[in-house]
Amino acid sequence: MTNLTKQIEKAVKKIDSVSKKFRPTVGIILGTGLGALAKEIKEHCVIDYGNIPGFQKSTAESHSGKLVLGELGGKKVIAMSGRFHRYEGYTMQQITFPVRVMKALGATHLLISNACGGMNPKLKGGSLCIIEDHINFMGDNPLIGPNDEKLGPRWPDMLAPYSHELIKLAEDAAKRNNIEINKGIYVAVLGPCFETRAEYRMFMKFGDIVGMSTVPEVIVGVHAGLKILGISVVTDECNPDQLEPTDISKILANAAEAEPKLTKIMKEVISKI
Ligand code: HPA
Repeated sequence: MTNLTKQIEKAVKKIDSVSKKFRPTVGIILGTGLGALAKEIKEHCVIDYGNIPGFQKSTAESHSGKLVLGELGGKKVIAMSGRFHRYEGYTMQQITFPVRVMKALGATHLLISNACGGMNPKLKGGSLCIIEDHINFMGDNPLIGPNDEKLGPRWPDMLAPYSHELIKLAEDAAKRNNIEINKGIYVAVLGPCFETRAEYRMFMKFGDIVGMSTVPEVIVGVHAGLKILGISVVTDECNPDQLEPTDISKILANAAEAEPKLTKIMKEVISKI
């Protein structure tokens, strides 16, 4: 048994001791300022990350650091209210450990939200963008190191990391609720500083949105065979010719504006899975 498998077993044992072997099918990871979905969950139990072996402390502002198990949209779910980022100093393996644990508990689907910068001029602050595909510009990968074939293949293909079926469900939910939603390519960077004008100019050629998270969890989700949906909330507009200062309060304000729309879509998608 590899070290990683042993760590996963320890975390599962601890969660099982609190949850009495609750078996979720849908994993949820909530991004910066986007914790409201967790409040809609009919709670079975809530566990602080600090009480789960292998989980790190959530240090980023507005990330609460709790695992919420319960029911949402008629499904058993497990939600991370607060995620880990590479810029907090954690390794890619530490950031993605909760995805391994979700899979071990029974999750087949993974829904992820995040706050991002909108580089495509169509994407205004407070709007939503379904992630169609990504570019990993983080210079790191959570699958580096020995591979445990029981957890996934050495060379997972990335032909469709984001499930077409789930994207369709999200688009349908948006349409039903008259919510405008776009689709785009997410460029993942390390952070924690925002991009320079020159970097935005370069990344605009690569994709539509830019952010500091999500891709590590998606890579591990693909490795683990999960069906994945990612929805980004555009929290700042990244026009290199008219760049305005970005700060966390502006990001949180735009996230708050978009949050009810995101929550509605995620909830409906879960009910249709
Ligand atoms: N760049 C990177 N990450 C981000 C941004 C951005 O402009 N906005 C929110 N997260």
